[in-house]
Amino acid sequence: MDIQALNKIALKMVEPGTGILAADESTGTIGKRFESIKTESTYESRRDWREMLFRTSEAMKNHISGVILYDETIRQNAADGTPLVELIKSTDTLPGIKVDMGTTQLAGRPQETITQGLDGLRERLKEYYDLGARFAKWRAVVEISHPDQYVGTTPTIGGIKANTHALGRYAALCQEAGIVPIVEPEVLMGGYHNIDRCQEVTEITLNSLFTELYEQGVKLEGIILKPNMIVAGKKCAQQPSREEIAERTLKVLKNTVPAAVPGIAFLSGGQNNEEATRNLDMMNKIGGFPWKLTYSYGRALQQSALFAWKGQESNYKLAQEAFSHRAKMNSLASTGEWSQDLDKS
Ligand code: 13P
Repeated sequence: MDIQALNKIALKMVEPGTGILAADESTGTIGKRFESIKTESTYESRRDWREMLFRTSEAMKNHISGVILYDETIRQNAADGTPLVELIKSTDTLPGIKVDMGTTQLAGRPQETITQGLDGLRERLKEYYDLGARFAKWRAVVEISHPDQYVGTTPTIGGIKANTHALGRYAALCQEAGIVPIVEPEVLMGGYHNIDRCQEVTEITLNSLFTELYEQGVKLEGIILKPNMIVAGKKCAQQPSREEIAERTLKVLKNTVPAAVPGIAFLSGGQNNEEATRNLDMMNKIGGFPWKLTYSYGRALQQSALFAWKGQESNYKLAQEAFSHRAKMNSLASTGEWSQDLDKS
C-alpha cells in the first residue's frame, strides 16, 4: 500500500470549494427517483441523465472533486461513444465506485440490517481500479427505533459492531488495491427520535467504527468519512436550529474522529437542498477542527436538476443550470461563505 498516494487522492476529494457528487443510485433507487418525474428508467434514460450531469462543465470543473458511480455507469458510454469515466476525468474529477451490494436482514437481529458485498471484493476492486476508479464507497445503515418502543429497540451494539466490522474489512481491501475508501455509517434520519438520540447513536457508531479501522490496519490518512449530521428524526415535533445541528455534529466528530483523517464529506440523507447546504455552511463558519468538512450529496445535489429535466431532452440546459447552482452553493458552504441571499439570486 502506498499511503502517500492514497493521502493525495483523499486530499483532492476534499479540496476546499469542492465536494463529491453521489450518483451511485442502484437501479432500484434511480427507478424511484425517475418515477417522481414520470420518466421510465431504462439503460438509456439513466445514461442520458448522468451524462447530462457529467457534461455540466462549470460544476464539474469547479465544484465537484469526485463522482461516485454505480457498476452499470462505470462501464457505460455516452451517447457519442465516449466512456462516461473519460468524460468525468476530462473535467479533472476523480471517478469513484459504490462497491457494497446493499443491505439485508441481519441474522439474529431481525430488526437490523447488514451491508453485503465482502465476498469477492478483492477481485472486484482490481477490476474497478483498471476501469479508472480511484475511490470507493460502502454504506452501512443504522436505524433508530421509535422512542416508545421497548422490546426490539434498535440499534443494538451487536448490530452496530457487525456493520462497522464490515466497513473495516472493506476499507482495508480498498487500501490494498490503491483505492481510497469512503467509509459511510449512516444513522437514518427518518422516524420520531429527537436530536439527543441521534447524537448518542452516532457517537457510539463512530467510536465502534474507528476501533474497527484501527484493529484492521486501515491507515486513517487514506480514508474519507461520510457521516450523517446530528439532526432530529424527520417526524420529531422538535426540530433543532442550524446552530444546534452544527454544534452537536462538531462535538460528536471531535469526540470520535482522529485528526489524521483528511476529510469528512457528509451525506444529505433526506435533508432538503437548502438544509443540507446551510448546515454544512454553519459548521464551516464555526471552524476550529482538524479535517476538511464538505459534501458527498446525492439528493441535495440532484433533486432540483431532476425536476428541471423531467426526462426531456429539451430541458437539458435548465437541468444543467439547476445542478450548477446547487454545486456552487455547496461549494460556498464548504468554505463557510454561503448565504441565503446568494442562494436565492
Ligand atoms: P444522499 O445525499 O441522497 O443521502 O446520498 C448520499 C449517498 O451516497 C448515500 O449513500
